[in-house]
Amino acid sequence: MSRKYRVGILGATGMVGQRFIQLLVDHPQFEVSAVAASDRSQGKNYGEACTWRLSGKMPALVRALPIQAPAPPLDCELVFSSLPGEIARETEASFAAAGYPVISNSSAFRMDEDVPLLIPEVNHAHLGLLEGQKTKYSGRGFIVTNPNCSTIMLALALAPLHAAFGVEATIATTLQALSGAGYPGVASLDILDNVLPYISGEEEKIETETTKILGHFNNSRIELAPMAVSAQCHRVNVADGHMAAVRVKLARKATLDDVRESLRSFRSLPQELGLHSAPAAPIVVRDEQDRPQPKLDRDAGNGMTITVGRLNSDSVLDYRFVVLSHNTIRGAAGAAILNAELLIALGHL
Ligand SMILES: NC(=O)c1ccc[n+]([C@@H]2O[C@H](COP(=O)([O-])OP(=O)(O)OC[C@H]3O[C@@H](n4cnc5c(N)ncnc54)[C@H](OP(=O)(O)O)[C@@H]3O)[C@@H](O)[C@H]2O)c1
Repeated sequence: MSRKYRVGILGATGMVGQRFIQLLVDHPQFEVSAVAASDRSQGKNYGEACTWRLSGKMPALVRALPIQAPAPPLDCELVFSSLPGEIARETEASFAAAGYPVISNSSAFRMDEDVPLLIPEVNHAHLGLLEGQKTKYSGRGFIVTNPNCSTIMLALALAPLHAAFGVEATIATTLQALSGAGYPGVASLDILDNVLPYISGEEEKIETETTKILGHFNNSRIELAPMAVSAQCHRVNVADGHMAAVRVKLARKATLDDVRESLRSFRSLPQELGLHSAPAAPIVVRDEQDRPQPKLDRDAGNGMTITVGRLNSDSVLDYRFVVLSHNTIRGAAGAAILNAELLIALGHL
């Protein structure tokens, strides 16, 4: 590994920002050189402004970094963004315009026609869209996004099935963890002894992002995958780890063994390239009756492997399964870092 890229984190004090810090602190290719957050935190150093909410201690290397405004210039070569959606659009565009590569975890640019919505194992060809951003942003500037934390596990599980058998339709019913709402998130009195059958904007994100991710890059734009996607989302009383009960209708005949083998054997470019954050297996299939479970399976592959279980034929559509992923790692910070590792490997950074 020749050198480390100096990175800034926008939204560094939040749930996802803290994951970025945790995952980047010993990373062989990146070092955190700048942190930014809201005006509540600006002017303090990271150790003062941030209440560390992950296990273990706040890494000593970031304690003394001053919290800055999320605006260029920042002392870094690229930025990871975990800003709230409503401010991300203007802020991320200003960094790209100032020549910074922006690796975003926010929803602001995900569906823009010239922005890759990237899962390195699934649609690395979509990085061809970056050519179109060259006329828009100066110097090295561009924007790459990762999907919503529930979309990513659905799209990753569907990818091998779509490639092998064609997915015509899918129905996903999610059970989403509390950390997905940021901090402080959902009020304890609303979620104790309860399930909330509504998460603002989530169903639309799953339904639209999935067809873009599984779409085909035709050398100028993405042709959306021609599949029906229906999602219903629920907030449940779990700390970390989103689950979804999924049903799929396939275009071509496949046996249950074909489907299992297609999921189990799935490997892709990040595994071939040996990217630092790439898990050995992006998808693990569990055969026990009672798996996956958030508490037991969210940390598979250091939080980067999704776990599929309860795989069976379905009497309404063709097959059904339950999928689980760590929402702040594979669903957020880990996804963005894997995107950046791929960008380096393919010469975009
Ligand atoms: N949590 C997840 O599982 C997850 C998964 C995928 C995507 N996302 C997305 O990631 C983003 C961050 O989510 P989160 O869960 O980390 O939220 P969070 O815990 O609420 O953190 C928000 C961060 O943004 C900063 N911020 C808030 N308002 C700001 C402003 N006006 N100007 C500058 N900075 C501001 C906060 O700084 P202060 O501490 O100073 O307030 C904090 O660092 C959101 O877009 C979310 O949709 C989250």
